[in-house]
Amino acid sequence: MPVITCIDDLKRLHERRTPRMFFDYCESGSWTEQTFRENTSDFDKIYLRQRVAVDMSGRSTATQMIGQDVSMPVALAPVGLTGMQCADGEIKAARAAEKFGVPFTLSTMSINSIEEVAEATTKPFWFQLYTMRDEDYVRRLIERAKAAGCSALVITLDLQILGQRHKDLKNGLSAPPKLTAKTIANLMTKWSWGLGMLGAKRRNFGNIVGHVDGISDAADLGAWTAEQFDPTLDWGKIAKIKELWGGPVILKGILDAEDAKMALQVGADAIIVSNHGGRQLDGALSSIRALPSILDAVGDQVEVHLDSGIRSGQDILKAVSMGAKGTFIGRAFVYGLGAMGEKGVTTALEVLHRELDISMALCGRRRIDELGRDILLVPEDFGGRWQG
Ligand SMILES: Cc1cc2nc3c(=O)[nH]c(=O)nc-3n(C[C@H](O)[C@H](O)[C@H](O)COP(=O)(O)O)c2cc1C
Repeated sequence: MPVITCIDDLKRLHERRTPRMFFDYCESGSWTEQTFRENTSDFDKIYLRQRVAVDMSGRSTATQMIGQDVSMPVALAPVGLTGMQCADGEIKAARAAEKFGVPFTLSTMSINSIEEVAEATTKPFWFQLYTMRDEDYVRRLIERAKAAGCSALVITLDLQILGQRHKDLKNGLSAPPKLTAKTIANLMTKWSWGLGMLGAKRRNFGNIVGHVDGISDAADLGAWTAEQFDPTLDWGKIAKIKELWGGPVILKGILDAEDAKMALQVGADAIIVSNHGGRQLDGALSSIRALPSILDAVGDQVEVHLDSGIRSGQDILKAVSMGAKGTFIGRAFVYGLGAMGEKGVTTALEVLHRELDISMALCGRRRIDELGRDILLVPEDFGGRWQG
């Protein structure tokens, strides 16, 4: 059994054990991948202030996100096709999150359906909504999430149109994989993945196939997305969806203070400062760099969360000390899932928790509510001084 000490260890195992097209799907950003890279490298530009001779006993990373108790300020982000990284991936990730005491968010583009995840778990999870042209389908999806007991709706705003990831086109990404000479050659080296998939509950998009009139085969993600995602989504429609849902709403994909103010106006319970993990607008600011201006604009009026680029507990510490109430992890848990299934997701959470706990202690802080900008050294020009 390999010794796992950091998220990068899980990433290497994920790459080894999962078919190339699904590893690449996870490990890529749009176009030049500038934003994807800077999501992580910008965290490295922020330093932590080491403090000594502070009583470190009785530490806790527990806190709340939208009023729900969490064992650390981390939720699992919605990730499409999670059930292709590992058989029944959504169920395994949801179970690991539940046991660890952090929220799990199920993507609209999941493999396991809302109902399957609900059946396999005992606590409410969060559901992420992509708005589609077919309003009736969206209404039914919301009703299904309500019926399954989901406790928050995460509405993703930064994907009305799909950013291009070169590797997905070159690999012919699809779920399940189309059998070409290239994919067969690659799949033959991933036998444990294949064996798992033979016994999987599902190998297509569980929230879509069988639930959308006239669509029986949603294998081609790109074509389906281009055809179905609602290009007309605006703040008025978001307000209507919020009303339809009637529960806590988290708006995901906010990267600009002006949009954060609009989110406030439609009554969001929280926003996620996010650039979709660098998968949409290449050339956009990293999330951690965008965070301060958004906090300054709305931080005292709405809960602000952050995702994109978190690979360590130190990153979580930096985001929360900067003012985020919580963080979301995408790739960090997917690496774990692809590496070792449910156990791998648990390992990813354990790694992040240990790093957060120890780094917090070495900064002289024992609880999340003691964290603040005073433990950070942020470069003066971090927020950027831009013309115009
Ligand atoms: C493979 C993959 C699939 C994703 N699918 C979705 C999705 O279906 N819905 C969504 O709102 N965000 C999706 N995202 C974005 C994540 O929710 C999150 O914003 C991003 O992964 C955060 O960046 P990180 O991976 O650096 O942690 C996806 C991200 C990845 C890596």
